[in-house]
Amino acid sequence: MQKNKYIYTFSYDNPESDLCKLESRCIFNKEEKNKLLFSNIKAEPSSSAFIKKRLDIILFSEDYDSLITEIKKLSICAEGFKVEYIVFDGDSTKYALRLEKLRDIGYSIEGDSDYYNPTITYALCLYEGIWYFGELIKDNFDWFKHKKKPFSYSNSISVNIAKALVNIAAKGDKEKKLLDACCGVGTILLEASFSGNNIEGSDINEKICKDAKGNLSHFNYSANVYHSDIKDISKKYDAAIIDLPYNLLSAATDSDILNIIGSTAEITDRLVIVSIADIANLISESGLKISDYCSVSKSGKRKFARKIWICEKNGQDSKQKI
Ligand SMILES: C[S@@+](CC[C@H](N)C(=O)[O-])C[C@H]1O[C@@H](n2cnc3c(N)ncnc32)[C@H](O)[C@@H]1O
Repeated sequence: MQKNKYIYTFSYDNPESDLCKLESRCIFNKEEKNKLLFSNIKAEPSSSAFIKKRLDIILFSEDYDSLITEIKKLSICAEGFKVEYIVFDGDSTKYALRLEKLRDIGYSIEGDSDYYNPTITYALCLYEGIWYFGELIKDNFDWFKHKKKPFSYSNSISVNIAKALVNIAAKGDKEKKLLDACCGVGTILLEASFSGNNIEGSDINEKICKDAKGNLSHFNYSANVYHSDIKDISKKYDAAIIDLPYNLLSAATDSDILNIIGSTAEITDRLVIVSIADIANLISESGLKISDYCSVSKSGKRKFARKIWICEKNGQDSKQKI
């Protein structure tokens, strides 16, 4: 019988499938399958661009009537509740029957329902012969507001990638101290702050740092941003994200990249490195071990892909800066 506490549902387009799976491996230690995942690990749907719903399982049963009897025994009293039916792969329950089941549950809960502004949402679903009843927590999409930040930058990553990088770096643990080593205008800092992660940023470019601070204060976030070359940061972090410089706006040679990676490896043991070029050889050269990887192409631009490496120190100090 199913013993997990939570059921998660996911949504993503094909180009982001590998990124979603990498995020899922980091948060849940396993991949979602068919956009569905059972876990005992609790994660907030709004902290991810891909997790859409979390069902906090209250009851489950192979027998539908027994489930309803057990729900009634709970004597739930909830003014303004709503009940939804989630259709999973393999559930062939017809629409009319699904409505009937929602009514069964509605009649088992005390209080008036409110379809449009519910105070609490319950859900029913059937998966592999087991009926699940629980409280449904959904992505609130409040983070969409970041798409209208006052200062933007053509080298910025997408909000979806930024959210995934935070989860990949923190492994879903909000207590972990994170650094965005090349923070640009703060796309990653905004998502981490929204999700309640502990993050700071640094960037070598003064104007860009000012813009990152402006973006953060616009949304009332308080993450520190240091105007600094990463080589001058000495504070230690549990993990760092490096969205490496590229193109004319922030060009970087192999030696610059080695220096950025080497300097960051001095202040953390876990690095999440992002680059549009294949720099696996430079990562190895800097003495880091690649523990996981994915590539995300831009929709409609298959040739432009961002590569993401999760790197750990090899147990020995990474190579000296050159
Ligand atoms: C690709 S951009 C980062 C974009 C950022 N993720 C965003 O979404 O806005 C790379 C950034 O690295 C910064 N940078 C380059 N060399 C650096 C160094 N040595 N230390 C800190 N930042 C550096 C550049 O100023 C640039 O803003």
